[in-house]
Amino acid sequence: MDSFPTLDDAPVDGRRILVRVDFNVPVKNGGVGDDTRIRKSLPTLRELLQRDATLVLCSHLGRPKGPQDDARMGPVAAHLATLLEREVRYLATPGPGSSEQRAFVAEAPRGSVTLLENTRFDPREKANDPELASILAGYADAFVNDAFGAAHRAHASTEGVARLLPSCAGRLLERELRVLGGLLEAPERPFVVLLGGVKVSDKIDVIRRLLEVADRLLIGGAMAFTFVKARGGRVGDSLVEEDRLELARELMSEAQEQNVELLLPTDALCAREIAPDVPTAVHPVDSIPDGERGLDIGPATVAAFEAALEDAATVLWNGPMGVFEVPPFDTGTRKVAEALAASGAMTVIGGGDSVAAINGLGLADEIGHISTGGGASLELLEGKTLPGVAALGSVAWA
Ligand code: 3PG
Repeated sequence: MDSFPTLDDAPVDGRRILVRVDFNVPVKNGGVGDDTRIRKSLPTLRELLQRDATLVLCSHLGRPKGPQDDARMGPVAAHLATLLEREVRYLATPGPGSSEQRAFVAEAPRGSVTLLENTRFDPREKANDPELASILAGYADAFVNDAFGAAHRAHASTEGVARLLPSCAGRLLERELRVLGGLLEAPERPFVVLLGGVKVSDKIDVIRRLLEVADRLLIGGAMAFTFVKARGGRVGDSLVEEDRLELARELMSEAQEQNVELLLPTDALCAREIAPDVPTAVHPVDSIPDGERGLDIGPATVAAFEAALEDAATVLWNGPMGVFEVPPFDTGTRKVAEALAASGAMTVIGGGDSVAAINGLGLADEIGHISTGGGASLELLEGKTLPGVAALGSVAWA
């Protein structure tokens, strides 16, 4: 992992700091749902406040086409104020850089916290327009990027502004890069990777990169059926990416060449449709009758995966084992989540669905590191450079 400046290297004390956070959280009926991303930014914000900085925070929320009332940052500002136990200044504005916003930021008292309106209200954000970057840069003396979840986006508030101000990573970004980056470099062994989710095609590059470092790769979720079919199994009506069968064969032989133990499910919990409490049956994974679909890993697979996790020193989990939103197809995901929570290994979870599953089970505190990045964590694990990180340190601190 390339080195990057952190808060340890940055003289932020007493300065006005623009902090890019990833407060892209679910907002419903004017309230914040899962606030993990906001909570995870608190150590950086508290440290900066202790160091007498004045904070101007910015984030995107959702994917609005322009200013949209249901994508305003107001509920997030209120929620942050509760968590920080202090006032968070917020002004609903047409977008970043409006004259109202400039005046509001100019009036920010020393030591205050201001949250700007959704950066994506302005099309110049996603275009990484230098004009918008320079407006944002004009709000502060320096830039701290703590938005790991958006670090794979080269946008004005992530990449552009880092080219204009002295900058560094916040504590959340720093930890994400060290933990996830560390998995690719020097994981404690055995290093077990557990992958699930629907599509192999979303994870090809990640699988390829992880095959270079993992000792064992466990594949569950719907994506497993593409591998099973590629091996000649009959998977009934289970989801299969027909155009990826050859790729699945290639990945299986790469695993063999790299000496990585590859575990596919041996059985599946099947049903004719996805609905709560429909009739189900467990079938061997390679002889699922037509008309039935595998919707979760079966009990023998759960036991095999639990055993494969037992001696792990490092575990990375990304993607659910089945249709975990609909019981009883949540069992496999729950069982592996419990196995991870009970494990003495360094456990790392990435990807929205597995994080939602672990949060839903109340097991988050038992996990070594829960990544706040979806796309960003996959890109990092593919070995890609994240533009929001690469730009840090472009301007020297005075
Ligand atoms: C995420 O939720 O993964 C990040 O906030 C990035 O959001 P985006 O995919 O809309 O850029």
